[in-house]
Amino acid sequence: MDRYRQLLDFSSSAQLLLLTLFTALQAVTWSSHAAESPSPRELLVGFRAAPDPAVSSFQPLLTDSSGNYSLGFLRVNQNQLSLSVLHVPSSVPLWSANTTRLARWADPTQLFFNGSLVLSDARTGVFWSTSTTGDRVWLSNTSNLLIQKRDGVNILWQSFDFPSDTLVENQNFTNTMALVSSNGLYSMMLGPDYIGLYAKFSGSGRGPGQMYLKHRALEAKAEIVEGQPIYMVLKSDGYLGMFQNGSVPVDVQSFNTFQQNVSGIRRVRIEPDGNLKGYYWTGSSWILDYQAISDPCELPSSCGSYGLCKPGKGCSCLENNRTAPDSGGCAPAGNQLSGDFCGAYDSRVRVVRRSGVELPFKELMGYKKMSSMEQCEGACEGNCTCWGVVYSNSSGFCYMLDYPIQTVVEAGDETKVGYFKVREGVRKKRVETWVGMGLGLLFGAILVLGGVVGLRWYKLRSRGVKRYLEEEGVSGVGPYKDLGGASFRSIELCEK
Ligand SMILES: *[C@@H]1O[C@H](CO)[C@@H](O)[C@H](O)[C@H]1NC(C)=O
Ligand SMILES: *[C@@H]1O[C@H](CO)[C@@H](O)[C@H](O)[C@H]1NC(C)=O
Ligand SMILES: *[C@@H]1O[C@H](CO)[C@@H](O)[C@H](O)[C@H]1NC(C)=O
Ligand SMILES: *[C@@H]1O[C@H](CO)[C@@H](O)[C@H](O)[C@H]1NC(C)=O
Ligand SMILES: *[C@@H]1O[C@H](CO)[C@@H](O)[C@H](O)[C@H]1NC(C)=O
Ligand SMILES: *[C@@H]1O[C@H](CO)[C@@H](O)[C@H](O)[C@H]1NC(C)=O
Ligand SMILES: *[C@@H]1O[C@H](CO)[C@@H](O)[C@H](O)[C@H]1NC(C)=O
Ligand SMILES: *[C@@H]1O[C@H](CO)[C@@H](O)[C@H](O)[C@H]1NC(C)=O
Ligand SMILES: *[C@@H]1O[C@H](CO)[C@@H](O)[C@H](O)[C@H]1NC(C)=O
Ligand SMILES: *[C@@H]1O[C@H](CO)[C@@H](O)[C@H](O)[C@H]1NC(C)=O
Repeated sequence: MDRYRQLLDFSSSAQLLLLTLFTALQAVTWSSHAAESPSPRELLVGFRAAPDPAVSSFQPLLTDSSGNYSLGFLRVNQNQLSLSVLHVPSSVPLWSANTTRLARWADPTQLFFNGSLVLSDARTGVFWSTSTTGDRVWLSNTSNLLIQKRDGVNILWQSFDFPSDTLVENQNFTNTMALVSSNGLYSMMLGPDYIGLYAKFSGSGRGPGQMYLKHRALEAKAEIVEGQPIYMVLKSDGYLGMFQNGSVPVDVQSFNTFQQNVSGIRRVRIEPDGNLKGYYWTGSSWILDYQAISDPCELPSSCGSYGLCKPGKGCSCLENNRTAPDSGGCAPAGNQLSGDFCGAYDSRVRVVRRSGVELPFKELMGYKKMSSMEQCEGACEGNCTCWGVVYSNSSGFCYMLDYPIQTVVEAGDETKVGYFKVREGVRKKRVETWVGMGLGLLFGAILVLGGVVGLRWYKLRSRGVKRYLEEEGVSGVGPYKDLGGASFRSIELCEK
């Protein structure tokens, strides 16, 4: 009898397992089925969608009439999502909702349309909303996401008014907008008669940051009328035009394919390295045909923090003569962070001097005239917001850096001298914290898979990890900023 019951138990649990497997498989089949069936052409009031756990990269919710563009949930950082418009054939995101923070790819997160398109989470509230009272949402065949009343006359809201890092053909870029790179470091904005690229190395606050490229309108064909704003448009003819009035551009930045017929669409994007690049679509790949900065050493941080860029020869480090910075980069731990030396930090400051260096965009940086390197250094030494100076003996210009040292450029002239502060002994344990967390996550996964046996094992092992962490004096998790740039990189899908 007992034996029979055991058998029964076994067979019923096997059945349960099979049933579970079957359900799981069916869910996968259904979801891939759902992905194949076309997503709708418009969303009406009452629309509601949640991220599907079975979708690994992109969950379409709305498509344009050509099928080339799609609005949907794009997976970022594995378990988070952004609401994005994708160029479907290449999976390149052209627009993303600027949410207060990233929503989780999990149940309480939902997108709904009640007149406003709203991304929210029942627990934490609204991440993003268009704050409109429209009747329908649709995607134009130029990738513009629009909210309109049923009559379709007025545009209540359009994604073209809130660009992310990309402009597409004929999209109007005005002086109230900014293009921001996906890592949040670089931005493009229009001035009264120029376009400017800015780097935000000093963290949040204090405006757009340091300008590293300024392209003034040439006004060859039309003059700028003072006091009236300019705007910029990527023209199908293969150029970035600045306009003020009518169709005559006040400036033309032509691409390699200027006035050539290219079959596909064009786009420009501010890249995570700070460059502004233009591409066109051949039908199977994106071809680069414009870049605002062609010399890599002129990029704001081509070799990373505390890097040294040698024109034509690539990267090395400021501090020693390694030919290429290793994967960890040149900066000692704690120096990639923004901030200064003013707080009650438990850090010591070391100094690195290097001759024959200059700043990549010094003509856009403020300077003070000083009579000697000693005076220039002295001005920085006692100033806790100063990270370093570069002094030119021939001109007497003293350039002061108020953000963590980025890449400097090798100069032939040995009388150009740099003085750089290095923060030492700052939270070196961070790496171990992440290792510890990684181990924790791994054990967590094993726990779920392995059931009770796994649980016991986990308990034993995690005690070991805990002791290890205690020995290393690790406490808590590093600040959010440490995730910084790299964490959003996964949004960069394949481009080739
Ligand atoms: C996508 O756009 C191209 C033009 O860039 C067009 O030729 C093609 O037909 C479009 N694809 C679809 C599925 O409509
Ligand atoms: C739509 O939902 C948002 C978020 O819940 C809310 O703030 C807004 O008032 C709603 N709009 C309408 C028209 O109900
Ligand atoms: C896009 O739509 C417009 C009408 O709204 C049409 O004239 C044009 O041919 C379409 N372009 C493509 C590529 O489908
Ligand atoms: C997103 O919003 C923040 C805060 O409002 C703003 O600083 C940032 O520039 C915006 N990003 C883009 C791409 O517009
Ligand atoms: C672009 O924006 C400018 C300034 O807001 C405006 O004068 C112009 O008419 C717009 N152009 C288009 C094509 O929308
Ligand atoms: C527009 O341009 C024309 C000629 O280029 C000029 O005469 C006119 O004053 C301009 N209008 C405005 C509003 O700037
Ligand atoms: C571009 O295409 C137009 C028509 O679509 C044609 O008239 C023109 O000759 C083409 N130009 C070049 C440079 O191929
Ligand atoms: C690195 O090279 C510079 C000159 O190129 C030299 O002055 C310096 O001593 C070298 N440093 C090391 C650590 O080799
Ligand atoms: C720096 O310039 C001063 C005068 O301009 C000159 O006397 C001095 O020799 C220069 N020093 C170096 C290291 O070139
Ligand atoms: C300290 O350095 C910052 C730049 O890092 C500069 O703006 C400020 O004027 C300096 N303060 C003094 C007292 O020199």
